[in-house]
Amino acid sequence: MQNTQNEKPLDYSLIGGHVAVTSSNGDIKIIKADVGISDGKISHIGYLRTHPSHSTLNVEGLHILPGIVDSQVHFREPGLTHKEDLESGTKAALLGGVTAVFEMPNTQPSTTDHSSFSAKVKALDNRAWCNVGFYVGGSYENILQLPELEKLEGCCGIKVFMGSSTGTLLVEDDDNLFKILSNGHCRVAVHCEDEQRLKERKKIAIEGKSPHLHPLWRDEETALLAVQRLIRLALKAKRPVHVLHVSSKQEVEFLAAHKNIATIEVLPQHLTLFAPDCYERLGSFAQQNPPLRDKSHQAALWKALQKGIIDVIGSDHAPHTIEEKKREYPASPSGMPGVQTLLPIMLNHVNNGNLSLPHLIQLISSNPAKIFNIEGHGKLEIGASANLTLVDLKLERKIENQWIVSKCGWTPYDGMKVKGWMKACFINGQLAMMEDQVIDRPKGRLLHFNNSSASPKI
Ligand code: DOR
Repeated sequence: MQNTQNEKPLDYSLIGGHVAVTSSNGDIKIIKADVGISDGKISHIGYLRTHPSHSTLNVEGLHILPGIVDSQVHFREPGLTHKEDLESGTKAALLGGVTAVFEMPNTQPSTTDHSSFSAKVKALDNRAWCNVGFYVGGSYENILQLPELEKLEGCCGIKVFMGSSTGTLLVEDDDNLFKILSNGHCRVAVHCEDEQRLKERKKIAIEGKSPHLHPLWRDEETALLAVQRLIRLALKAKRPVHVLHVSSKQEVEFLAAHKNIATIEVLPQHLTLFAPDCYERLGSFAQQNPPLRDKSHQAALWKALQKGIIDVIGSDHAPHTIEEKKREYPASPSGMPGVQTLLPIMLNHVNNGNLSLPHLIQLISSNPAKIFNIEGHGKLEIGASANLTLVDLKLERKIENQWIVSKCGWTPYDGMKVKGWMKACFINGQLAMMEDQVIDRPKGRLLHFNNSSASPKI
């Protein structure tokens, strides 16, 4: 791929690509076409003549996708910036072909009020390599403020931890959970693990001291109990919910019958890594909440995905340093980086025949944009903001720790060969990444969400 004009471009002609366009019924079709970008928006899809004022990119052999959205990342700023910060996290996203992220509230302090939220927004200034939305954390203290907080500019929604994980955010009882669900409109994203059962079983981890025990301590019953409680309360409150990182056969079977109230996320790591192999190879580097489980759960997640029951794939990018991860289990923290590897891991699954490219685009672009009402993302159509990810489906690469730009400097996929790689990204109409390099300065912005009414059904 060559950039045939050197001066700083404003408008672009992308010539000769395979373009993933969204038709009026929402279906995604791949067509051979050129794409024109003017004033930050897609101005043309079809045959383009050379335009003297456009910067022309020959994109033959590449696929042009609507920009990839990672709707679950933990960037650790403020408070834990030795693990990651907004600058390093958004750069990792962009190099991974991701044009927008939703950042989680379990920082220090947690993002639970106006001032912690505006501090995050301010910290983005000139540091965001991709577009960013922030979650507000639901807590015992802010229940009554949630309807206001969810409408803040740049707020993607409310996140609730029903089971404790990294950080202090936790709402474990039904009364308070119901109050949260009864206050506000937008879809509430929930980490579903039953805190009571986690506490009762923690001795399994403390006495056994082996990361192999992580899926036994935080077992599938722990996840299912929380999901069942959540759905009962969501139905009572008539509030849509987004069940984050579903990891077990039991959860998908239950949730398949509740798609009227719940959207469902799965993670690439649950679709790719499995127990006991992951704990044998990676020890506590494979430790995350909810845990990586055995192959029977992985098969159930794939089956649900292939049947259309899964709505979103997010990375749950949760960086911890190598030193922290090396602590003796269970003192080792849970979580693994993933924002830079989300797309190549999933393109590899496309090449392996596990899902089609249009289906993947739905899961990592169109659906998150639709579920969370993001303006300007999720569709490649004339008039849409030019947030684009260009990929080479045939390119084979090896994922390695040295390539990871997250501050943590490691990936659970170190040494894995994949087929399918990101080649370039446009952020808000400007070329922002090409050939594994970010381009000049950060071009990301705060995302705009239409959060004034209830989330649409999907
Ligand atoms: O493993 C996890 N790590 N799961 C979460 O829910 C939180 C995350 C983190 O922030 O480290």
